[in-house]
Amino acid sequence: MQYQIKPATGLKGSVRLPGDKSISHRYAMIASVAEGSSRIENYSSGADCQSTLACLRALGIEMEKQDRTVTIHGRGLDGFRMPDQVLDAGNSGSTIRMLSGMLAAQPFTSTITGDESLSVRPMERVMKPLALMGATLVARDGKYPPLTIHGERLKPIQYEPPVASAQVKTCVLFAGLHTEGVTSVVERMGTRDHSEVALREFGAEVEKEGAVISIQGRPRLQARNLTVPGDLSSAAFFLVAANLFPGSRVAIEGVGLSPSRTQLLDWLLMAGAQIRVLDAGQKAGEMVGSLLVEGKPMQGGTIEGAMTAGLIDEIPVLAVLGAVSKQGLTVRDAKELRVKETDRIATVAENMRRMGIEMTTNEDGFHIPGGQRFRAAQVDSFGDHRIAMAFAVAGLVAADGETTIDNAGAASVSFPEFYATLEQLCVA
Ligand code: S3P
Repeated sequence: MQYQIKPATGLKGSVRLPGDKSISHRYAMIASVAEGSSRIENYSSGADCQSTLACLRALGIEMEKQDRTVTIHGRGLDGFRMPDQVLDAGNSGSTIRMLSGMLAAQPFTSTITGDESLSVRPMERVMKPLALMGATLVARDGKYPPLTIHGERLKPIQYEPPVASAQVKTCVLFAGLHTEGVTSVVERMGTRDHSEVALREFGAEVEKEGAVISIQGRPRLQARNLTVPGDLSSAAFFLVAANLFPGSRVAIEGVGLSPSRTQLLDWLLMAGAQIRVLDAGQKAGEMVGSLLVEGKPMQGGTIEGAMTAGLIDEIPVLAVLGAVSKQGLTVRDAKELRVKETDRIATVAENMRRMGIEMTTNEDGFHIPGGQRFRAAQVDSFGDHRIAMAFAVAGLVAADGETTIDNAGAASVSFPEFYATLEQLCVA
Protein backbone atom coordinates (compact mmCIF):
# COMPACT_ATOMS: atom_id res chain seq x y z
CA MET A 1 0.00 0.00 0.00
CA GLN A 2 1.11 3.52 -0.85
CA TYR A 3 -0.07 6.50 1.11
CA GLN A 4 0.00 10.16 0.06
CA ILE A 5 0.56 12.81 2.71
CA LYS A 6 -0.57 16.35 1.99
CA PRO A 7 1.22 19.24 3.67
CA ALA A 8 -0.68 20.69 6.64
CA THR A 9 -0.79 24.04 8.39
CA GLY A 10 -1.47 22.70 11.87
CA LEU A 11 -3.21 20.11 14.03
CA LYS A 12 -6.38 20.61 16.05
CA GLY A 13 -8.71 18.32 17.93
CA SER A 14 -8.97 15.59 20.44
CA VAL A 15 -8.29 11.85 20.15
CA ARG A 16 -8.39 8.68 22.21
CA LEU A 17 -5.82 6.13 21.06
CA PRO A 18 -5.90 2.35 20.78
CA GLY A 19 -4.52 0.35 23.67
CA ASP A 20 -0.83 0.28 24.51
CA LYS A 21 1.02 -2.43 22.60
CA SER A 22 3.38 -3.40 25.43
CA ILE A 23 0.60 -3.65 28.01
CA SER A 24 -1.74 -5.56 25.67
CA HIS A 25 0.85 -8.31 25.05
CA ARG A 26 1.48 -8.68 28.76
CA TYR A 27 -2.17 -8.74 29.83
CA ALA A 28 -2.95 -11.42 27.22
CA MET A 29 0.00 -13.64 28.13
CA ILE A 30 -0.50 -13.39 31.88
CA ALA A 31 -4.30 -13.84 31.60
CA SER A 32 -3.62 -17.11 29.74
CA VAL A 33 -1.71 -18.57 32.68
CA ALA A 34 -4.07 -17.16 35.30
CA GLU A 35 -7.08 -19.08 36.60
CA GLY A 36 -10.43 -17.97 35.22
CA SER A 37 -11.65 -15.59 32.57
CA SER A 38 -10.11 -12.14 32.18
CA ARG A 39 -11.83 -9.40 30.24
CA ILE A 40 -9.35 -7.02 28.61
CA GLU A 41 -10.80 -3.79 27.21
CA ASN A 42 -9.14 -1.47 24.70
CA TYR A 43 -6.79 -4.29 23.65
CA SER A 44 -4.33 -3.02 21.01
CA SER A 45 -5.69 -3.25 17.47
CA GLY A 46 -2.12 -3.62 16.15
CA ALA A 47 -1.08 -6.73 14.23
CA ASP A 48 1.66 -7.47 16.78
CA CYS A 49 -0.84 -7.95 19.58
CA GLN A 50 -3.02 -10.11 17.32
CA SER A 51 0.07 -12.31 16.78
CA THR A 52 0.27 -12.80 20.53
CA LEU A 53 -3.41 -13.87 20.63
CA ALA A 54 -2.87 -16.29 17.72
CA CYS A 55 0.11 -17.90 19.50
CA LEU A 56 -1.88 -18.25 22.73
CA ARG A 57 -4.78 -19.83 20.82
CA ALA A 58 -2.37 -22.31 19.24
CA LEU A 59 -1.28 -23.18 22.79
CA GLY A 60 -4.86 -24.18 23.64
CA ILE A 61 -6.10 -20.97 25.21
CA GLU A 62 -9.70 -20.16 24.38
CA MET A 63 -10.75 -16.57 23.92
CA GLU A 64 -13.46 -14.37 22.47
CA LYS A 65 -12.97 -11.06 20.78
CA GLN A 66 -15.50 -8.35 20.28
CA ASP A 67 -14.23 -5.10 18.83
CA ARG A 68 -11.43 -4.14 21.18
CA THR A 69 -12.50 -6.35 24.07
CA VAL A 70 -10.80 -9.71 24.43
CA THR A 71 -11.96 -12.29 26.95
CA ILE A 72 -9.27 -14.83 27.72
CA HIS A 73 -10.07 -18.08 29.48
CA GLY A 74 -6.94 -18.72 31.50
CA ARG A 75 -5.93 -22.31 32.22
CA GLY A 76 -3.46 -21.73 35.04
CA LEU A 77 0.32 -22.07 35.07
CA ASP A 78 0.25 -25.61 33.64
CA GLY A 79 -2.54 -25.11 31.13
CA PHE A 80 -0.74 -24.70 27.78
CA ARG A 81 -1.19 -27.59 25.34
CA MET A 82 1.50 -28.67 22.90
CA PRO A 83 0.82 -26.75 19.68
CA ASP A 84 0.30 -28.77 16.52
CA GLN A 85 1.81 -26.03 14.39
CA VAL A 86 4.76 -23.65 14.38
CA LEU A 87 3.86 -20.57 16.43
CA ASP A 88 3.91 -17.40 14.35
CA ALA A 89 4.98 -14.17 16.09
CA GLY A 90 4.66 -12.20 12.83
CA ASN A 91 6.61 -8.96 13.13
CA SER A 92 6.57 -8.98 16.91
CA GLY A 93 9.82 -9.13 18.88
CA SER A 94 7.80 -8.79 22.09
CA THR A 95 5.76 -11.92 21.28
CA ILE A 96 8.69 -14.17 20.48
CA ARG A 97 10.95 -12.98 23.30
CA MET A 98 8.40 -12.74 26.10
CA LEU A 99 6.46 -15.90 25.22
CA SER A 100 9.75 -17.85 25.02
CA GLY A 101 10.00 -17.43 28.78
CA MET A 102 6.73 -19.31 29.25
CA LEU A 103 7.44 -21.89 26.53
CA ALA A 104 10.79 -22.79 28.12
CA ALA A 105 8.92 -24.11 31.17
CA GLN A 106 6.48 -26.39 29.30
CA PRO A 107 6.67 -30.19 29.28
CA PHE A 108 6.83 -30.12 25.45
CA THR A 109 8.84 -28.80 22.54
CA SER A 110 7.56 -25.86 20.51
CA THR A 111 8.87 -23.79 17.64
CA ILE A 112 8.22 -20.09 17.27
CA THR A 113 9.05 -18.02 14.22
CA GLY A 114 8.14 -14.76 12.51
CA ASP A 115 8.23 -12.69 9.35
CA GLU A 116 11.26 -11.66 7.32
CA SER A 117 12.16 -8.78 9.65
CA LEU A 118 11.79 -10.82 12.84
CA SER A 119 13.83 -13.63 11.29
CA VAL A 120 16.98 -11.52 11.37
CA ARG A 121 16.55 -10.11 14.87
CA PRO A 122 18.82 -11.39 17.66
CA MET A 123 17.45 -14.02 20.03
CA GLU A 124 20.62 -14.92 22.02
CA ARG A 125 19.53 -12.34 24.55
CA VAL A 126 16.66 -14.64 25.61
CA MET A 127 18.33 -17.96 24.74
CA LYS A 128 21.14 -17.41 27.21
CA PRO A 129 19.11 -16.87 30.41
CA LEU A 130 16.62 -19.60 29.48
CA ALA A 131 19.50 -22.05 28.95
CA LEU A 132 20.88 -21.07 32.36
CA MET A 133 17.46 -21.93 33.80
CA GLY A 134 17.67 -25.39 32.22
CA ALA A 135 15.81 -25.20 28.88
CA THR A 136 17.37 -26.18 25.55
CA LEU A 137 16.88 -23.71 22.74
CA VAL A 138 17.93 -24.12 19.14
CA ALA A 139 17.97 -21.20 16.70
CA ARG A 140 18.97 -20.66 13.09
CA ASP A 141 22.70 -19.88 13.05
CA GLY A 142 22.54 -20.07 16.84
CA LYS A 143 20.75 -16.76 17.15
CA TYR A 144 17.85 -16.12 14.74
CA PRO A 145 14.25 -17.37 14.54
CA PRO A 146 12.84 -19.96 14.11
CA LEU A 147 13.48 -20.77 17.73
CA THR A 148 12.86 -24.34 18.86
CA ILE A 149 12.33 -24.52 22.58
CA HIS A 150 12.64 -27.83 24.42
CA GLY A 151 10.79 -27.04 27.63
CA GLU A 152 12.14 -28.21 30.96
CA ARG A 153 11.43 -27.97 34.67
CA LEU A 154 13.27 -24.67 35.15
CA LYS A 155 15.41 -23.58 38.04
CA PRO A 156 15.41 -20.02 39.34
CA ILE A 157 18.38 -17.78 38.56
CA GLN A 158 19.59 -14.25 39.15
CA TYR A 159 20.36 -12.73 35.78
CA GLU A 160 21.80 -9.43 34.59
CA PRO A 161 20.97 -8.90 30.89
CA PRO A 162 23.83 -7.40 28.87
CA VAL A 163 21.40 -5.02 27.08
CA ALA A 164 18.75 -2.78 28.61
CA SER A 165 15.64 -4.64 27.41
CA ALA A 166 12.15 -4.91 28.86
CA GLN A 167 11.53 -7.91 26.61
CA VAL A 168 14.47 -9.82 28.07
CA LYS A 169 13.53 -8.84 31.64
CA THR A 170 9.98 -10.06 30.98
CA CYS A 171 11.15 -13.31 29.41
CA VAL A 172 13.14 -14.15 32.54
CA LEU A 173 10.32 -13.10 34.91
CA PHE A 174 7.78 -15.16 32.92
CA ALA A 175 10.11 -18.19 33.07
CA GLY A 176 10.55 -17.49 36.79
CA LEU A 177 6.77 -17.72 37.27
CA HIS A 178 7.09 -21.43 36.60
CA THR A 179 10.01 -22.24 38.92
CA GLU A 180 10.08 -23.27 42.58
CA GLY A 181 11.90 -20.34 44.14
CA VAL A 182 12.84 -16.74 43.49
CA THR A 183 14.05 -15.55 40.08
CA SER A 184 15.70 -12.14 39.83
CA VAL A 185 16.70 -9.76 37.08
CA VAL A 186 19.34 -7.12 37.75
CA GLU A 187 18.55 -4.01 35.78
CA ARG A 188 21.12 -1.21 36.02
CA MET A 189 19.34 0.94 33.44
CA GLY A 190 15.57 0.98 33.97
CA THR A 191 13.24 -0.22 31.21
CA ARG A 192 9.43 -0.18 30.99
CA ASP A 193 7.96 -1.94 34.02
CA HIS A 194 4.57 -3.05 32.64
CA SER A 195 5.37 -6.73 33.34
CA GLU A 196 6.09 -6.11 36.99
CA VAL A 197 2.92 -4.00 37.34
CA ALA A 198 0.72 -6.51 35.48
CA LEU A 199 2.11 -9.57 37.27
CA ARG A 200 1.30 -7.94 40.61
CA GLU A 201 -2.23 -7.12 39.38
CA PHE A 202 -2.82 -10.79 38.60
CA GLY A 203 -1.55 -11.74 42.05
CA ALA A 204 2.16 -12.53 41.67
CA GLU A 205 4.71 -11.39 44.24
CA VAL A 206 7.12 -9.12 42.43
CA GLU A 207 9.58 -7.01 44.37
CA LYS A 208 12.06 -4.35 43.40
CA GLU A 209 15.02 -3.55 45.62
CA GLY A 210 17.45 -1.14 44.04
CA ALA A 211 18.37 -2.62 40.68
CA VAL A 212 17.06 -6.12 41.51
CA ILE A 213 13.58 -7.22 40.45
CA SER A 214 12.46 -10.56 41.92
CA ILE A 215 9.52 -12.85 41.36
CA GLN A 216 8.38 -15.65 43.61
CA GLY A 217 7.70 -18.76 41.51
CA ARG A 218 4.46 -20.76 41.23
CA PRO A 219 1.98 -18.08 42.35
CA ARG A 220 -1.76 -18.66 41.89
CA LEU A 221 -2.62 -16.03 39.34
CA GLN A 222 -6.24 -14.90 39.35
CA ALA A 223 -8.19 -13.62 36.35
CA ARG A 224 -8.76 -9.86 36.21
CA ASN A 225 -10.88 -7.39 34.25
CA LEU A 226 -8.61 -4.67 32.94
CA THR A 227 -8.60 -1.75 30.52
CA VAL A 228 -5.48 -1.08 28.49
CA PRO A 229 -4.50 2.62 28.53
CA GLY A 230 -3.91 4.41 25.21
CA ASP A 231 -0.45 3.93 23.71
CA LEU A 232 1.98 6.75 24.56
CA SER A 233 4.33 5.61 21.79
CA SER A 234 1.47 6.12 19.30
CA ALA A 235 0.70 9.48 20.93
CA ALA A 236 4.32 10.46 20.20
CA PHE A 237 3.51 10.96 16.50
CA PHE A 238 0.84 13.53 17.32
CA LEU A 239 2.85 15.20 20.08
CA VAL A 240 5.65 15.74 17.57
CA ALA A 241 3.33 16.68 14.69
CA ALA A 242 1.66 19.34 16.87
CA ASN A 243 5.06 20.81 17.68
CA LEU A 244 5.96 21.12 14.01
CA PHE A 245 3.25 23.81 13.78
CA PRO A 246 3.24 26.53 16.43
CA GLY A 247 -0.37 27.28 17.33
CA SER A 248 -1.54 23.66 17.05
CA ARG A 249 -3.64 22.32 19.90
CA VAL A 250 -4.25 18.62 20.41
CA ALA A 251 -5.75 16.70 23.32
CA ILE A 252 -4.93 13.02 23.73
CA GLU A 253 -7.23 11.32 26.19
CA GLY A 254 -6.78 8.25 28.37
CA VAL A 255 -3.17 7.61 27.53
CA GLY A 256 -0.73 5.48 29.55
CA LEU A 257 1.68 7.63 31.56
CA SER A 258 3.83 5.02 33.26
CA PRO A 259 6.87 6.80 34.74
CA SER A 260 8.91 4.15 32.93
CA ARG A 261 7.68 5.57 29.61
CA THR A 262 7.30 9.32 30.20
CA GLN A 263 10.92 10.15 29.33
CA LEU A 264 9.20 11.15 26.07
CA LEU A 265 7.34 13.95 27.82
CA ASP A 266 10.43 14.96 29.82
CA TRP A 267 12.48 15.21 26.67
CA LEU A 268 9.86 17.15 24.72
CA LEU A 269 9.42 19.59 27.59
CA MET A 270 13.18 20.06 27.79
CA ALA A 271 13.27 20.62 24.04
CA GLY A 272 10.74 23.44 24.34
CA ALA A 273 7.30 21.79 24.08
CA GLN A 274 4.26 22.88 26.03
CA ILE A 275 2.43 19.79 27.25
CA ARG A 276 -0.03 19.68 30.12
CA VAL A 277 -1.06 16.50 31.90
CA LEU A 278 -4.73 16.47 32.94
CA ASP A 279 -6.67 14.11 35.23
CA ALA A 280 -3.82 11.69 35.83
CA GLY A 281 -4.52 8.78 38.15
CA GLN A 282 -3.66 5.14 38.72
CA LYS A 283 -5.68 2.31 37.24
CA ALA A 284 -4.64 -1.28 37.87
CA GLY A 285 -1.20 -0.05 38.85
CA GLU A 286 -0.66 1.98 35.66
CA MET A 287 -0.74 5.78 35.50
CA VAL A 288 -3.31 7.02 32.99
CA GLY A 289 -4.19 10.59 32.06
CA SER A 290 -4.85 13.05 29.26
CA LEU A 291 -2.34 15.24 27.49
CA LEU A 292 -2.89 18.68 26.06
CA VAL A 293 -0.16 19.82 23.69
CA GLU A 294 0.16 23.30 22.23
CA GLY A 295 2.59 23.66 19.35
CA LYS A 296 5.68 25.75 20.12
CA PRO A 297 8.92 26.37 18.23
CA MET A 298 11.31 23.64 19.37
CA GLN A 299 14.92 23.90 20.52
CA GLY A 300 16.00 20.30 19.89
CA GLY A 301 18.73 18.71 21.99
CA THR A 302 20.55 15.46 22.77
CA ILE A 303 19.33 11.96 23.61
CA GLU A 304 21.95 9.79 25.33
CA GLY A 305 22.60 7.28 28.11
CA ALA A 306 19.56 6.09 30.06
CA MET A 307 17.38 8.57 28.14
CA THR A 308 18.11 6.67 24.92
CA ALA A 309 16.84 3.39 26.39
CA GLY A 310 13.69 5.16 27.62
CA LEU A 311 13.00 6.77 24.24
CA ILE A 312 14.11 3.97 21.97
CA ASP A 313 10.77 3.57 20.13
CA GLU A 314 10.24 7.33 19.75
CA ILE A 315 13.61 8.21 18.20
CA PRO A 316 12.46 7.96 14.53
CA VAL A 317 9.76 10.60 15.02
CA LEU A 318 11.97 12.73 17.28
CA ALA A 319 14.48 12.75 14.42
CA VAL A 320 11.84 14.49 12.29
CA LEU A 321 11.36 17.08 15.01
CA GLY A 322 15.14 17.47 15.32
CA ALA A 323 15.55 18.49 11.68
CA VAL A 324 13.17 21.45 11.98
CA SER A 325 14.18 22.42 15.53
CA LYS A 326 16.56 25.26 16.25
CA GLN A 327 19.58 23.26 17.43
CA GLY A 328 18.94 19.90 15.79
CA LEU A 329 19.14 16.47 17.41
CA THR A 330 22.07 14.35 18.53
CA VAL A 331 21.41 10.72 19.47
CA ARG A 332 24.04 8.62 21.26
CA ASP A 333 24.20 5.15 22.87
CA ALA A 334 21.53 3.87 20.49
CA LYS A 335 23.12 0.70 19.11
CA GLU A 336 19.80 -1.08 19.80
CA LEU A 337 18.22 0.98 16.99
CA ARG A 338 20.21 -1.17 14.56
CA VAL A 339 18.31 -4.33 15.60
CA LYS A 340 14.72 -3.08 15.73
CA GLU A 341 12.08 -3.91 13.08
CA THR A 342 14.60 -2.37 10.65
CA ASP A 343 18.03 -0.89 11.24
CA ARG A 344 16.39 2.38 12.25
CA ILE A 345 19.58 4.45 11.99
CA ALA A 346 19.86 3.37 8.34
CA THR A 347 16.16 3.67 7.46
CA VAL A 348 15.79 7.10 9.10
CA ALA A 349 18.93 8.29 7.28
CA GLU A 350 17.73 6.99 3.90
CA ASN A 351 14.33 8.70 4.15
CA MET A 352 15.90 11.91 5.46
CA ARG A 353 18.23 11.90 2.44
CA ARG A 354 15.24 11.45 0.11
CA MET A 355 13.48 14.39 1.77
CA GLY A 356 16.53 16.63 1.41
CA ILE A 357 17.56 16.53 5.08
CA GLU A 358 21.22 16.45 6.02
CA MET A 359 22.32 14.05 8.73
CA THR A 360 25.38 12.09 9.78
CA THR A 361 25.28 8.61 11.29
CA ASN A 362 27.61 6.40 13.26
CA GLU A 363 27.41 2.89 14.69
CA ASP A 364 25.32 3.88 17.70
CA GLY A 365 23.65 7.17 16.86
CA PHE A 366 23.30 10.14 14.56
CA HIS A 367 23.33 13.90 14.33
CA ILE A 368 20.77 16.02 12.48
CA PRO A 369 21.51 19.75 12.24
CA GLY A 370 18.51 21.96 13.00
CA GLY A 371 16.77 24.61 10.94
CA GLN A 372 16.24 22.37 7.88
CA ARG A 373 13.28 22.10 5.53
CA PHE A 374 11.68 18.85 4.42
CA ARG A 375 11.09 18.44 0.69
CA ALA A 376 8.19 16.29 -0.51
CA ALA A 377 9.53 12.95 -1.76
CA GLN A 378 8.86 9.26 -2.18
CA VAL A 379 9.93 7.52 1.01
CA ASP A 380 9.63 3.91 2.19
CA SER A 381 8.61 2.33 5.48
CA PHE A 382 10.97 -0.56 4.66
CA GLY A 383 8.28 -2.63 6.40
CA ASP A 384 8.77 -0.82 9.72
CA HIS A 385 5.67 0.66 11.38
CA ARG A 386 7.46 3.45 13.21
CA ILE A 387 9.35 4.50 10.08
CA ALA A 388 6.05 4.70 8.13
CA MET A 389 4.44 6.89 10.80
CA ALA A 390 7.50 9.09 11.45
CA PHE A 391 7.78 10.00 7.77
CA ALA A 392 4.04 10.56 7.44
CA VAL A 393 4.60 13.24 10.09
CA ALA A 394 7.57 14.58 8.10
CA GLY A 395 5.29 14.80 5.03
CA LEU A 396 3.07 17.28 6.88
CA VAL A 397 5.87 19.89 6.90
CA ALA A 398 7.06 19.23 3.33
CA ALA A 399 5.22 22.27 2.01
CA ASP A 400 6.28 21.84 -1.64
CA GLY A 401 3.97 18.93 -2.45
CA GLU A 402 2.69 15.51 -1.49
CA THR A 403 4.92 12.90 0.11
CA THR A 404 4.40 9.29 -0.91
CA ILE A 405 5.05 6.50 1.56
CA ASP A 406 5.72 3.10 0.02
CA ASN A 407 4.71 0.09 2.11
CA ALA A 408 2.66 2.45 4.26
CA GLY A 409 0.53 -0.46 5.52
CA ALA A 410 3.35 -1.35 7.93
CA ALA A 411 1.79 1.18 10.34
CA SER A 412 -0.85 -1.43 11.19
CA VAL A 413 1.74 -3.44 13.12
CA SER A 414 1.06 -1.14 16.07
CA PHE A 415 -1.54 1.40 14.90
CA PRO A 416 -3.94 0.46 12.06
CA GLU A 417 -5.97 3.65 12.62
CA PHE A 418 -2.92 5.92 12.31
CA TYR A 419 -3.57 7.58 8.92
CA ALA A 420 -7.27 8.13 9.65
CA THR A 421 -6.40 9.70 13.02
CA LEU A 422 -3.76 11.93 11.44
CA GLU A 423 -6.25 13.09 8.78
CA GLN A 424 -8.82 13.81 11.47
CA LEU A 425 -6.37 16.08 13.34
CA CYS A 426 -4.69 17.85 10.43
CA VAL A 427 -5.73 21.30 9.30
CA ALA A 428 -5.10 21.77 5.56
C1 S3P B 1 9.08 -3.48 24.37
C2 S3P B 1 10.39 -3.22 24.70
C3 S3P B 1 11.31 -2.54 23.79
C4 S3P B 1 10.56 -1.79 22.68
C5 S3P B 1 9.48 -2.62 22.06
C6 S3P B 1 8.47 -3.05 23.10
C7 S3P B 1 8.24 -4.18 25.35
O1 S3P B 1 12.16 -3.50 23.20
O2 S3P B 1 11.47 -1.36 21.69
O3 S3P B 1 8.81 -1.88 21.06
O4 S3P B 1 7.01 -4.21 25.20
O5 S3P B 1 8.81 -4.74 26.29
P1 S3P B 1 13.49 -4.03 23.91
O6 S3P B 1 13.10 -4.84 25.07
O7 S3P B 1 14.18 -4.85 22.86
O8 S3P B 1 14.26 -2.80 24.28
